Amino acid sequence: MAEATLTSGDFTESTEPFRLFAAWLEDATRSEPNDPNGVALATVDEDGMPNVRMVLLKGFDEHGFVFYTNFESAKGREILASRKAAMCFHWKSLRRQVRVRGPVEIVGDAEADAYYAARPRGSRIGAWASKQSRALESRFALEKAAAEYTAKFALGEIPRPHHWSGFRIVPMSIEFWHDRPFRLHDRLVFTRNDSDGWDKARLYP
Ligand SMILES: Cc1cc2nc3c(=O)[nH]c(=O)nc-3n(C[C@H](O)[C@H](O)[C@H](O)COP(=O)(O)O)c2cc1C
Repeated sequence: MAEATLTSGDFTESTEPFRLFAAWLEDATRSEPNDPNGVALATVDEDGMPNVRMVLLKGFDEHGFVFYTNFESAKGREILASRKAAMCFHWKSLRRQVRVRGPVEIVGDAEADAYYAARPRGSRIGAWASKQSRALESRFALEKAAAEYTAKFALGEIPRPHHWSGFRIVPMSIEFWHDRPFRLHDRLVFTRNDSDGWDKARLYP
């Protein structure tokens, strides 16, 4: 069934990564049962120990790949220290993978405000109530915090918490992988060159 949604043509003929990524993400919105924008985000801590967890991709263009989080969370602190991260999408139904690596920028306030304002009210409250990645004594403590912020922001707009914003991975490489029979998979990697264009190479699977 997923085959019907596959991007037409041979993806290894692509000459730049963003249109190809857009096409694959579009395919995934039709093939995946939920969260086609779910992506594993890898960071390293101050000892170089890797860390990985899922986030949701909330925007992408030629400037990079954006997600939002609590800057005081483990991932937030790790990225603010290293300014580097990597992402890995896996769309199971399509048997495709995309990997992105690069330095990380902080999303501008206007862009983060616009995204925050577009979130459901409960999610905006949640961003205030959750001290993400810190120890929580009980479920009740979280629900109490949510109730307190709901009361606090009962009237008017809910401001974006200062510790909640977006990160943008500015890709230095983007790799596309597609399953082929007998593990002779296709891999195509785009690497940013000195003139800000993309060098393209096939890789052994
Ligand atoms: C499908 C999925 C999507 C998620 N999206 C986000 C997200 O966009 N931002 C976020 O902060 N956490 C998201 N989470 C929760 C994270 O995986 C993680 O539990 C949380 O951010 C704390 O991670 P940290 O302690 O490494 O910072 C998501 C979890 C799942 C399973």
